[in-house]
Amino acid sequence: MSEIHIGGFRRLQGRIPVQGSKNGVLPMMAASILSDETTVITNVPAIQDVFCMMGILKFMGCSCTLKDGELTLCPAGLDRTDLPEEYVRQMRSSIVLLGAVLGRCGRGSTCYPGGCSIGKRPIDFHLQALRSLGAEIREDGCCVQARAGRLAGGTIRLPYPSVGATENALLAAALADGDTVILGAAREPEIEELCRFINAMGGEVSGGGTGRIRIRGKKKLHGCRFQAPGDRIVAGTYLMAAMAGRGEVELAGVRPEHLKEVIRTLERAGAVFDISETAVTVSMAGRPLPLQVETGPYPGFPTDLQSPVMGLLCCASGVSRIRETVFEGRYETAAELEKLGASVTVREGEALVRGRPVLRGGRAGARDLRGGAALVVAGLAAEGETEIYDCFHIERGYEDICRDLRLAGADIRWQRQEAKEKEN
Ligand code: EPZ
Repeated sequence: MSEIHIGGFRRLQGRIPVQGSKNGVLPMMAASILSDETTVITNVPAIQDVFCMMGILKFMGCSCTLKDGELTLCPAGLDRTDLPEEYVRQMRSSIVLLGAVLGRCGRGSTCYPGGCSIGKRPIDFHLQALRSLGAEIREDGCCVQARAGRLAGGTIRLPYPSVGATENALLAAALADGDTVILGAAREPEIEELCRFINAMGGEVSGGGTGRIRIRGKKKLHGCRFQAPGDRIVAGTYLMAAMAGRGEVELAGVRPEHLKEVIRTLERAGAVFDISETAVTVSMAGRPLPLQVETGPYPGFPTDLQSPVMGLLCCASGVSRIRETVFEGRYETAAELEKLGASVTVREGEALVRGRPVLRGGRAGARDLRGGAALVVAGLAAEGETEIYDCFHIERGYEDICRDLRLAGADIRWQRQEAKEKEN
């Protein structure tokens, strides 16, 4: 297993190119099976979740190759409509394949995706959306069987702007017979990009990025070539890392308009920004100011940056309050941050972070993807060596967080356990 070791505080200075968007690419990979023609997606990060989705598509008969950020998907050989349990358990976002395979083949089956430590993560909105398009859904406690001769366009009303349920609805509606309207749709940039992607395949989608999306079902879609956007959550993580390192760091390959609320929040913590079309530079001197942060669906403060901002606020010059409103179990990292000398109290659905003048290096474990990133942020501000274990969580979404932060001068490296074992 791999660990991350951080030597301690260093003023960060430099330029970091940001990887392609994990949460943008995964639904595009699912959408690729809506056609039997080859699709190429560029700016694809080499991360575990992408490899996992490639594994599922190969299991279903597609061929996939990823080389230098270019992902070639050939779905002509698709010959299965059941999603492999071992992968679905690993990665919840595989569930959006159900809408795609239902749209393409008229049937599909899957086990329930694993929840994880951030919350239960049910799929009731997904199934309700597919039923609105005429799918017959049978659930038998652990598996879901979906069937539909051909899906019929209809009106889908989402009770909550669920990202995944919006994606599933989009993928099922793209080949349905007739028009579909999704009301209460998620407005995340990843949804807008997915709508653009489906249009690049010959689809007819409008309203992506708004709460009301219209899809005109097509009989057939074709392959396409598409560039994935930069990962706004990785970018936000690195902005916070730069602030913990009290330096000046430029992030390239991001769209500042996708980071508006994050930038506004970090400005309130004392950061200064210089923004261009495709880059964001953040400067920070001294400790961050304390904040009141509440997460919410886009364009609110992203839940995926709640743990990293908690990691940053552990060294703020006062008491911060963080309220997580999207996932009910996303405070697990608080206990790990306390191993680095932080003071975080979770009470009545809110985290109270008492900023410390100095954090101390220590040994802590990543509990989930963004919680692991939060430990990196805190470790960069700490005095003394920090060791982070269970970094497989981090590798699901960050191509190489050590490589990237070293570009800004961080004293951070991978400690590959297998390499160490070999030495012994
Ligand atoms: C996507 O997850 C992202 N994952 C998450 O990023 C992100 O945190 C989340 O959207 C919110 O922005 C991918 O895109 C692969 P939701 P998703 O459906 O689609 C409840 C990361 O770190 N809900 O918008 O699963 C759900 O339990 C990951 O990159 C239902 O109750 O999120 C949660 O409380 C973590 N029933 C809320 O809605 C449903 O059928 C939001 O979930 C679906 C969701």
